Amino acid sequence: MPDTINLAPGLASIALDTIPIIDIAPLLAGDMAPAAAIGQACREIGFFYIKNHGIPQELINRVYESARRFFALPAEEKEKSAIEHSACHRGWFRIGGENLDPAKQQQAGDLKEGFKIGRDLPLTHPRVQAGLPLHGPNLWPDLPGWRTVMQDYYDRLVELGKTILGAFAIALGLEKTYFEPWLGIPMTTLGPLHYPPQTGRITEAQLGAGAHTDYGCLTLLHQDSSGGLQVQGLDGRWISAPPIPGTLVVNIGDMMERWTNGVFRSTPHRVINISGQERYSLPFFFDPDFYAPVECLPTCLQPGEMPKYQPTTAGQHLLDMINASFKYHQEKA
Ligand code: OGA
Ligand code: NI
Repeated sequence: MPDTINLAPGLASIALDTIPIIDIAPLLAGDMAPAAAIGQACREIGFFYIKNHGIPQELINRVYESARRFFALPAEEKEKSAIEHSACHRGWFRIGGENLDPAKQQQAGDLKEGFKIGRDLPLTHPRVQAGLPLHGPNLWPDLPGWRTVMQDYYDRLVELGKTILGAFAIALGLEKTYFEPWLGIPMTTLGPLHYPPQTGRITEAQLGAGAHTDYGCLTLLHQDSSGGLQVQGLDGRWISAPPIPGTLVVNIGDMMERWTNGVFRSTPHRVINISGQERYSLPFFFDPDFYAPVECLPTCLQPGEMPKYQPTTAGQHLLDMINASFKYHQEKA
């Protein structure tokens, strides 16, 4: 008998056309015209889809295949590249290891496992030698071809992230190259996720991903065909952000909201996998250099307005956020 699904009140989502689909083919060719639509989406809903993003579907398929292969390994095998073994937040975290909604209802952590792949810096790199947090080598599972596929996707997403950031700069009334000085050694992370299907009574005590905003600057997400991603509209209603073939979902994180003094919105979202199948997704978090100053951009302060946030750095901001949602990191700190 199929398992029944019983969603607690407030966990359903509605279909609304508020998340725009933006064709970024011009951007990739150096024409900044899409920046206007991107800016509007960032101000209004904080989420948009991009199409014609230039990442081959065939590569995306191979990344999923690799992710599936890893997550299907026995726990003892995955344990060898567990995040607890990393000094710089890389590797596998088990189900419940991340809790994206710790302040509210979630006690058990998210019903998902994942794998963090960052900028692969050797131990001899000056920043690693200096002990800079979040900098260092990746942990690579012992699976043939795995590293090559992930690294290829990672490298392309770094470039795509830079292109989108150029559009953000234009949309904010800045030079296209405004953010470039802060992209020296960007802190970019590919974090494949696996969500088991959720059945029975589902409450906010445990969701696939608890309601959260992303920590960083911008997120580029590919989701498989399962669905389950929900985005909170300004009126508080949860809107479904279904997978749309040929697109990536882009959203603003807290760091960008802070940098823009709230002009761009970092919007709450969550995942509930009620598809009855295993769900995989590929979030890519694009963050600038550790030392990038995150303080109100010159174009984001209206006359008479005060900055809403204290200045910080990209690195400090990320450390604060990771500490709040990863148990192992709190124990280490
Ligand atoms: C995240 C996230 C959405 C998804 O990892 O921050 O919101 O579809 N993921 O997995
Ligand atoms: Ni998120």
